[in-house]
Amino acid sequence: VIRIDIKDTTKPSVIHIGERLENLSGYLPAGRRVMITDTNVLRLYGDRFPSGEVIAIGTGEPIKTLETVQEIFQRLIDLEVDRSAFIVGIGGGIVSDVTGFVASTYQRGLRFGFAATTLLAQVDASVGGKNGVNFNGYKNMVGVFNQPEFVLCDPATLTTLPAREVRCGMAEIVKHAAIASADLFDFLETRAEEALALEPAVVQRLVAESVEIKAAVVSRDERETGERRKLNFGHTFGHAIEKTTGVNHGEAVSAGMVAAARLSVQRGRLDTEGENRIERLLRRLDLPVRVAIDEKAVIDALHRDKKRESANVHFVMLDAIGKAVVENIALDELQQVARHLMGQG
Ligand SMILES: NC(=O)c1ccc[n+]([C@@H]2O[C@H](COP(=O)([O-])OP(=O)(O)OC[C@H]3O[C@@H](n4cnc5c(N)ncnc54)[C@H](O)[C@@H]3O)[C@@H](O)[C@H]2O)c1
Repeated sequence: VIRIDIKDTTKPSVIHIGERLENLSGYLPAGRRVMITDTNVLRLYGDRFPSGEVIAIGTGEPIKTLETVQEIFQRLIDLEVDRSAFIVGIGGGIVSDVTGFVASTYQRGLRFGFAATTLLAQVDASVGGKNGVNFNGYKNMVGVFNQPEFVLCDPATLTTLPAREVRCGMAEIVKHAAIASADLFDFLETRAEEALALEPAVVQRLVAESVEIKAAVVSRDERETGERRKLNFGHTFGHAIEKTTGVNHGEAVSAGMVAAARLSVQRGRLDTEGENRIERLLRRLDLPVRVAIDEKAVIDALHRDKKRESANVHFVMLDAIGKAVVENIALDELQQVARHLMGQG
């Protein structure tokens, strides 16, 4: 088991990579525990959960709402759960985002941890202490920063993931490599097919290095006042694409990273070879590099993105593979890159 510490945050957090879900109870304090999961994960892995009460939510981004949070609050009240209980979220990013928010707010906060069962949750969503839900169609609009005491990542649970979910996780791994590690990017280039096939040694390294990168950034800037913004590489366009088309998060981020790389070249930062390497790698990982979009809808979505500051956005670009930089860019300029996404630019 590889252990990675997130330090210098309001609370320390420890990520255990390669630990089995069956061993989760060994990470829990004595006393009452309540597991929050979703119906898929409960069906697949419920028999490996520690003993204790289980609350299962539905699946899909539309259930990541305050209504779901309220239903969980009511269940906790019905179960007479008090502040001495420990809450564990077992599932993907939706479960961890919701569980972290519930555990941080129910009775002003209970202790909590996660067992991440999707690749995306293991490399990204469960790590770093951002918890929350969507509100009236605005993504992650309501939430808290609060670190889980631990995150357990069992590679064995990834074998049941649909291929599309595996690719989504890969998109975030490419993101981490692109912004912070040329070595990890090289490794992905040599092992892309084995990565997609979830070859255990390859997955272990990808998850561990991704978490290392995210942990280091979060340790330096827990509340995203500066460097943590780099983790949004590909996400400015990604969120807009996700909102306006049917593609899922990872696919949208993939196309968003290609657009961001394009803009980095246009602004004299990244060289064309770097841009091409990003596009080639994403293609080999079966991720889309262009998405047919309604340009106007994307621009509208960009304008409504909560990360915007007046007419500008904090936009993440690359100086090289493994080296990101955040620039304040006018939305007008982004409009031109949006055209490129549709293959017109
Ligand atoms: N807090 C953060 O820092 C952060 C970062 C990135 C993404 N996110 C959020 O994470 C969410 C996406 O997370 P996700 O991709 O894990 O989605 P998800 O939680 O919806 O899981 C994807 C699907 O896989 C199923 N599933 C989970 N584990 C499985 C397994 N082992 N085998 C088979 N099926 C399994 C789920 O039931 C679900 O249907 C988004 O809401 C996003 O906003 C948060």
